[in-house]
Amino acid sequence: MKILVTGGAGYIGSITVERLIKAGAEVVVLDNLFQGHRDAVHPDATFVQGDLADRALVEKLMADHKPDGIMHFASYTLVGESMERPFLYLRDNITNGLNLIESAVKQGVRGFILSSTANLFDEPEQIPIAETERIVPGSPYGESKFILERYLYWMDRLYDMRYTCLRYFNACGATEERGEDHDPETHLIPLVLQVALGQREKITIFGDDYDTPDGTCIRDYIHVVDLAEAHILAMRALLDGGHSRKYNLGNGRGFSVKEVVETARAVTGHPIPAEIGPRRPGDPATLIASSETINHDLGWRPIYPDLRTIIEMAWNWHQANPQGYEK
Ligand code: UFG
Repeated sequence: MKILVTGGAGYIGSITVERLIKAGAEVVVLDNLFQGHRDAVHPDATFVQGDLADRALVEKLMADHKPDGIMHFASYTLVGESMERPFLYLRDNITNGLNLIESAVKQGVRGFILSSTANLFDEPEQIPIAETERIVPGSPYGESKFILERYLYWMDRLYDMRYTCLRYFNACGATEERGEDHDPETHLIPLVLQVALGQREKITIFGDDYDTPDGTCIRDYIHVVDLAEAHILAMRALLDGGHSRKYNLGNGRGFSVKEVVETARAVTGHPIPAEIGPRRPGDPATLIASSETINHDLGWRPIYPDLRTIIEMAWNWHQANPQGYEK
């Protein structure tokens, strides 16, 4: 299969490219390197530096390479930033996604996978969160993904382009060669590991007065390789004639912020000083996915559900690459 991966120089995209190539796929990566890293792109992938806002470029890319399927990772992805800069998300994420979707339809692409988010479920009535849960986007970021999900629904109905929306919970972990390198970093596990590397003095825990057993937020940390494998399974199913689907994708287990910090102390042997700070606006107390549907439909289940293994793999990558990627 020939797959176009947008955002293939980013964290989840680059690791999915690595797994796609291992699985024998031909891969074309489109990335503007705004957040991604050239060094993260697998050497066997064809790399095109460019922006989804450039419609002519997207159409040419599609005509030149004629992919069977598209995996669309390229996006602004921060919940907090989207509350401060809503138009970046409500305009750029949506119009860039739409440029890609429209060119894909014109080109007759058969399978489209959208990176969607747990931020669709800001007020879950049931934990773990199933696909039947009411959608309440928690931010302009979540809303931008929801709107792209809706566009895809119409492409399926009107043009026969099949799609899968994968709503990720908290992606984390690394492979030997690729890991998480954001600037600025805002995610819990890499921040905690930066303390262990001596690059930060301490970690601030955002609130310990939530309605959870230890008072800190509970999240569903899913290994990035498990996410990547879900993409490959989902794409194969679409290209084999499967129907359009939406799946919540997590570990099915929740860990609190304090548990993450404790586990990182055990893995790294570093004391990792932590202080309690105020709540971060917009953080729900508990988010845990039910991934029963994708397990039932595609046989997917996490290979790395254990938090300690996830943190060990991330730690190995951060130790080998303390400054992240060179370029
Ligand atoms: N946290 C801290 N201190 C920090 C950083 C984070 O206590 O310095 C806490 C947060 O409050 C939260 C947990 O650690 O409770 C995880 O926070 P992250 O920032 O690592 O991840 P989020 O849960 O906020 O966001 C992630 C993705 C989003 C996605 C969301 C869906 O980054 O793209 O999960 O749940 F939308």
